[in-house]
Amino acid sequence: MDPRKSGSAGVPRSARSGDAVHVAGVILALCVGVWYSQALEVSVGKVHFVEAMNGSTVLLPCTYSSCIGIKNLYFSWHYNKNGTMDKMCDGVIPAEGIEPHVRILWPRVEFIGSSKTTNISILLWNVTFDDEGEYTCFARNPKEKNRNHSAIFTLIVVDELKEVDNTVTIIILSVVGGIIGLIIVIMVLKALVLFIIRKVQEKNKECLVSSSGIDNTENGLSKAENKATPKA
Ligand SMILES: *[C@@H]1O[C@H](CO)[C@@H](O)[C@H](O)[C@H]1NC(C)=O
Ligand SMILES: *[C@@H]1O[C@H](CO)[C@@H](O)[C@H](O)[C@H]1NC(C)=O
Ligand SMILES: *[C@@H]1O[C@H](CO)[C@@H](O)[C@H](O)[C@H]1NC(C)=O
Ligand SMILES: *[C@@H]1O[C@H](CO)[C@@H](O)[C@H](O)[C@H]1NC(C)=O
Ligand SMILES: *[C@@H]1O[C@H](CO)[C@@H](O)[C@H](O)[C@H]1NC(C)=O
Repeated sequence: MDPRKSGSAGVPRSARSGDAVHVAGVILALCVGVWYSQALEVSVGKVHFVEAMNGSTVLLPCTYSSCIGIKNLYFSWHYNKNGTMDKMCDGVIPAEGIEPHVRILWPRVEFIGSSKTTNISILLWNVTFDDEGEYTCFARNPKEKNRNHSAIFTLIVVDELKEVDNTVTIIILSVVGGIIGLIIVIMVLKALVLFIIRKVQEKNKECLVSSSGIDNTENGLSKAENKATPKA
């Protein structure tokens, strides 16, 4: 019983180690596969476009990641205007953690990346409608036979009047709604005031009646008193 138990206990152990070997093999295969296909990866993030108001400043995001490390990584940004690729900036990152020297070849471009965060994003200042289009982030790592990697980010420029129109319609709607509400309130108030006036008038009539009655009695009393005083 005991040896069997130890044996049965040993089987899962060997199975576990087999799994570990299997997992390690898969990881190795993945890494080799990655090394051959995607040693360097360039990404603009999950969202591949941005909508920006004309006149605003936009971030064109791009990051790289490398499985095998980088050496003299060349990167650039291009603006694709109907087929032609205009270079906006480029630079070389000598090694991981060493900041690149960046050449700016395009107006209103500022490099804000950092090799410490493998970030090669740029800012485009004061965008105009002419800036609309596709921006390509490009990187090439000599460590992997100058294979080219790129990612495309799209910029959509919108007029700020769009939102102004919205606010104007919201203002108009709220004003109209307010006026309608005010009219309703005024009508209700008017009805209430008329009702109160009517009630007050009715009360006044009653008061007049009662007061005249009191007056009569008072007069009567006074008359009686007057009549009584001379008698006394
Ligand atoms: C945005 O574009 C409109 C229309 O071309 C223009 O009138 C407006 O001044 C622009 N806004 C900015 C901030 O440049
Ligand atoms: C290409 O760009 C030029 C200006 O750079 C413009 O005049 C022309 O209409 C564009 N062509 C197309 C097909 O968009
Ligand atoms: C962007 O526009 C502002 C105001 O119009 C100006 O002061 C600034 O210098 C511009 N920036 C660039 C990089 O053109
Ligand atoms: C890259 O750096 C800029 C400036 O520090 C930052 O705004 C941006 O979020 C960074 N992008 C990524 C993907 O980390
Ligand atoms: C990478 O792109 C450059 C042009 O930007 C080209 O000269 C080079 O041949 C490309 N390399 C590969 C491996 O495709």
